[in-house]
Amino acid sequence: MKVLVTGGVGYIGSHTCVELLNAGYEVVVADDLRNSKEEALNRVEKITGKRPYFYKEDVCDKKAMERIFSEHKIDVIIHFAGYKAVGESVAQPVKYYRNNLNSTLVLLDCMEKYDVKTLIFSSSATVYGMPDSNPITEDESLKPINPYGRTKYMGELIIRDFMDAHPEKSAVLLRYFNPVGAHESGILGEDTPDTPNNLMPYIEKVVAGKFPHLRVFGNDYDTPDGTGVRDYIHVVDLAKGHLAAITYAMEHTGTECINLGTGTGYSVLDIVHAFESASGVPVPYIITQRRPGDAATCYSNPSKAKELLGWQAKENIEDMCRSAYNWTKKNPDGYGE
Ligand code: WQD
Repeated sequence: MKVLVTGGVGYIGSHTCVELLNAGYEVVVADDLRNSKEEALNRVEKITGKRPYFYKEDVCDKKAMERIFSEHKIDVIIHFAGYKAVGESVAQPVKYYRNNLNSTLVLLDCMEKYDVKTLIFSSSATVYGMPDSNPITEDESLKPINPYGRTKYMGELIIRDFMDAHPEKSAVLLRYFNPVGAHESGILGEDTPDTPNNLMPYIEKVVAGKFPHLRVFGNDYDTPDGTGVRDYIHVVDLAKGHLAAITYAMEHTGTECINLGTGTGYSVLDIVHAFESASGVPVPYIITQRRPGDAATCYSNPSKAKELLGWQAKENIEDMCRSAYNWTKKNPDGYGE
């Protein structure tokens, strides 16, 4: 079976390619490398002994996408490609709407023209915005609070309407919580920009000596230690969740939205301490002001994934931190230039 992975050179995409290739799928990657480096594909090949077909193309480029579908009989699309920085989306909303929505619309046109039955969509817990309660189930109200989250919410709506008009097809909308960590080999991981927005890559840069300390964004939240609580999930568990979603989608029609999380919340300081014990390296930090837009607590109820997909996260927080440290130690500058 042949799977088109858009954004397959990225962090989650490349880890998903490893699991797909190891499971015997044929993999075609479409990625224009605007936010990733082709070295990741070399690492995928090193790990699996197989190299995906690779097209350096913009997923919004309909002619380029149609060339891929005419050269390969695609059975499943996993759509990762998209911008994902919350802060940047606030500063440049149109860039986010144009890219994240147009890429999805192009792929839906291709699904219709080339008779592709199944779509797995990379959605996000950001569609929940400030959750009414935790743990969060899939029927929690959707009220994204930033343009990035709104592109994921609108993407879900567009896909639902498309699937309603094509009842023989199927879509699974996967709502990721906080992906962290790296492949056990230590040669595949998150290649982040100089100053990462997210917690784990920032900690990785601190222990790599790129920053003197971590800034903890507020310790006055209504949480056990006052710092923000999130549902961190190992990126390899997340990747395996996509394979379980493919199996489910091939046996069903219609649209399902499913949380991919562990169901356990950890605070910022929990992560700091777990990283220190996993690495044996201190993680100095200072407490600073809250970051605007942050929720105090956000973690998943992952029972629907277990019931429908037969999937649950297996890696614990120490595994996540150990794999993140292993990646950073071996690749202090990520994939380099
Ligand atoms: C986690 C916690 C921060 C950095 C983001 C976005 C989105 C989504 C998942 C794709 C919070 C605290 C962080 C730092 C800190 N990805 N923090 N110092 O905001 O929960 O979710 O990632 O869909 O990109 O929604 O993740 O890692 O930014 O923050 O104290 O330098 O760590 O306040 O409590 P977030 P995060």
